[in-house]
Amino acid sequence: MRQTARFGRMDGMAPLFKGMTPTHYCEIVTQALGGYVILKDLLGFLVHPDIPTRATDLKVADVATGNGIWIHHDVARNKPTAEFHGFDISLDQVGPKPWLPANISMHAWDIFQEPPARFMGYFDVVHVRLITVVVRNNDPQPVLANLTKLLKPGGYLQWDEVDTIGSSTKVVSGRAGENLDELFAQLKGRDTWKYHLAQIMEENGYAGSQLYTYEYGLRMARIWSDV
Ligand SMILES: C[S@@+](CC[C@H](N)C(=O)[O-])C[C@H]1O[C@@H](n2cnc3c(N)ncnc32)[C@H](O)[C@@H]1O
Repeated sequence: MRQTARFGRMDGMAPLFKGMTPTHYCEIVTQALGGYVILKDLLGFLVHPDIPTRATDLKVADVATGNGIWIHHDVARNKPTAEFHGFDISLDQVGPKPWLPANISMHAWDIFQEPPARFMGYFDVVHVRLITVVVRNNDPQPVLANLTKLLKPGGYLQWDEVDTIGSSTKVVSGRAGENLDELFAQLKGRDTWKYHLAQIMEENGYAGSQLYTYEYGLRMARIWSDV
């Protein structure tokens, strides 16, 4: 089984959302901006180019899909013959079923439970993004084990995360970033699993695991100052 793991290191953030909890913050950034602009812009792709996606009968899962924006973005739009399935513990954010394109389905599933039987070994690509607050006890293995069950032999896992430990807030002289520093201070130091995920994957049946890191440059400072 092969996989690609990648993580986004988010720098250049501006102060915002005083008093918000990390979970709340992650939800807002992800839903309001992350899915639409920021992560796509930072990475330059939605599916990593190492992952083959040309099969006409391609089957793709997006786990902890949130509002399903990763699937809705060009991923499903550009592949009308492929099948896309979003999974989340709650489907409250995905909108009415009649609005979904024909090649997208959404399913309620708790990532800590056994995957639905019909999806065992079903997917060519499993994608998961921004579940730092979901992973428990600094141990991604229970989550990884269930994601792996969704994959066909030879399938790919792409896992996108924010570097909540190594990230930093850059501000211009005379401006302060305490709000964001305070927020990230709550997350920092706990999620060291992110740095070891490729190795953890190798120990759990994957081959060719890669960790890619990305860092925002000045180009995105303007958009972060609006967040
Ligand atoms: C920060 S959001 C990320 C959403 C989406 N991946 C994105 O990048 O736009 C985290 C998501 O994890 C989901 N979630 C939380 N606990 C979960 C669980 N136990 N099983 C499945 N999904 C879960 C939440 O409902 C939420 O939609």
